[in-house]
Amino acid sequence: MIFNKYNKEENLYILNYPENEEELCALECRVLFNKEAKGKYLFSNYNFDASNSPFIKSALRIKVFKNSLEEVIEEIKEKNISYENFKVIYLRLEDCDISYKERLDSVYKVGTAVNGIANIKNPSITLGLVKVQNYWIFGEFDKNNCLWHIHDKKPKSYSNSLSFRVAKSLINIGIGRDRSLKVIDPCCGVGTVILEGLFMGVDIEGVEIKPQIASDCKRNLEFFNYKDVITKGNIKDIEKVYDVSIIDIPYGVFTPTTKEEQELIINSARKISKKLILISFENMDEMLHQAGFKVEDSASFSKGNFIRYISVCI
Ligand SMILES: C[S@@+](CC[C@H](N)C(=O)[O-])C[C@H]1O[C@@H](n2cnc3c(N)ncnc32)[C@H](O)[C@@H]1O
Repeated sequence: MIFNKYNKEENLYILNYPENEEELCALECRVLFNKEAKGKYLFSNYNFDASNSPFIKSALRIKVFKNSLEEVIEEIKEKNISYENFKVIYLRLEDCDISYKERLDSVYKVGTAVNGIANIKNPSITLGLVKVQNYWIFGEFDKNNCLWHIHDKKPKSYSNSLSFRVAKSLINIGIGRDRSLKVIDPCCGVGTVILEGLFMGVDIEGVEIKPQIASDCKRNLEFFNYKDVITKGNIKDIEKVYDVSIIDIPYGVFTPTTKEEQELIINSARKISKKLILISFENMDEMLHQAGFKVEDSASFSKGNFIRYISVCI
């Protein structure tokens, strides 16, 4: 059991992910919520903005949590729960066992129990109702606004660029709940990770060795009116120390590289950061251990025919 009526959680998060990113979503949930999702939903007392994850479709900020719909309605009336310009929706989960008619009826009953004026067409707030396991839950509905999809239109993109969904998740995996951490992507390519970090208000910088790629990265940042946080240079010359490095290491598939170059990158990451999130084409645990990292957690996801590994290292 993930919860019972004596152990109430404050938020219900509804997840969605393509099959090839299931492990990545699970890793993000472990880092952010310290637990695994149950199917495509997760309960947590941690209040997280749904729009800050590529995998959280929506969140329900729980107000009433009961064994039956009747009890939910009773409590809404008893507590005189009031909203102006509200709309009530039923949240369909993957394993929803409520018929369409029951869903309509339940939404209508809850809508009439709430004190205030409903406004279906142009609501100021959306309220959600859902039956999960054998519990009925009512709360404020918070939908992922998906504004971060604008980065899909970045002017410069390479075939080895990460997807902006993966990049966004890497930021969450890197910083967890602490949005004040200082982050670096010291092999930043055209800056996919940097764009997501800046969008989320994270203190992030990038370094890229190849002048043309560094200039394309700057162009991407400029296109979205972000400040220039990119330096053209080599990871080995970075002198500052950061809380987190996020490194999509050159693998030799798209970008020519050697084992020595990879070692140099990982050894440099050890010097400049307390924590490393490494994205690689193969398991690099041995090289990570030799550099002095401990692999705390990991996941993999596929992109086309390739599998990519994510290692969370301290
Ligand atoms: C796999 S790509 C990163 C792609 C990036 N994540 C993106 O989405 O655009 C690795 C990048 O590291 C850069 N690189 C390789 N060696 C480096 C070094 N020693 N210091 C800094 N950057 C380096 C490469 O030029 C390449 O652009």
